[in-house]
Amino acid sequence: MTLLSVRGVTKRYGGLVAVNNVSFDVAAGELVGLIGPNGSGKTTLLNILSGLADPDAGEILLDGKPCQGLTPEKLAHRGMMRMFQLTRVFRRMNVIDNLLVAGRALGLKPGEALDRARSLISELRLDAVAALDAGQLSGGQMKLLEFGVCFMVPPRIALLDEPFAAVHPTMKEIMGGFIRSRHENGQTFLLVSHDMPVVVELCPRAICMNAGAVVIDAPTRAVLADARVIEAYLGGQAA
Ligand SMILES: Nc1ncnc2c1ncn2[C@@H]1O[C@H](COP(=O)(O)OP(=O)(O)OP(=O)(O)O)[C@@H](O)[C@H]1O
Ligand SMILES: [Mg+2]
Repeated sequence: MTLLSVRGVTKRYGGLVAVNNVSFDVAAGELVGLIGPNGSGKTTLLNILSGLADPDAGEILLDGKPCQGLTPEKLAHRGMMRMFQLTRVFRRMNVIDNLLVAGRALGLKPGEALDRARSLISELRLDAVAALDAGQLSGGQMKLLEFGVCFMVPPRIALLDEPFAAVHPTMKEIMGGFIRSRHENGQTFLLVSHDMPVVVELCPRAICMNAGAVVIDAPTRAVLADARVIEAYLGGQAA
């Protein structure tokens, strides 16, 4: 069943076509990697999907219904959740309270919010810092907390923009494990990452963009072996 449909999405900044006629579908339960060299349009596409930027052309369907032009809040309510921009961590509030506030804001009952907060803290290995203010966490721990905030009520699709960048290997391991186990339980993801080993390990399918356009959309190993992808990463030096 198709959950997300991106059809002919284009975004221009002046003379630059940041996203150029991009089309793809994501089925419910898929974990799709979105890769491409710097400046290829990945973040711009995620901005459009999450309502932070308006496309100049094209259509986005979530569960078969058009959703381009909606606010990030409305999109989040429909289950399209952009991590690390929509989520809010309150730095002077402790870890567990941050999760409880998110859960309550999303309509969970107090007991239910507490149960989910406790299980997320254990899943994300934040037990030792659960009583610390979020502002005292390391950058990686804060990202883990943001995962928790996003998953108090699991979104229909989670859009992740380079969650592993500049994160300690231990935290990266925990994040990868979290994504993998949630995916095994049916969670849908679109994951932007420059970390190819992680993309190969986690994502059965990948889409590579270059200069705003989709170069190839195929099983991840085939994508990484494709001459056009290698050339895109080499910036045309292979020619
Ligand atoms: N608000 C903006 N105004 C003007 N140009 C922009 C804006 N946002 C992005 N761009 C341009 O659009 C292009 C695509 O940028 P984008 O950030 O989407 O790339 P990316 O694939 O996420 O790159 P990276 O891997 O470095 O994060 C770039 O040339 C960038 O400079
Ligand atoms: Mg980017």
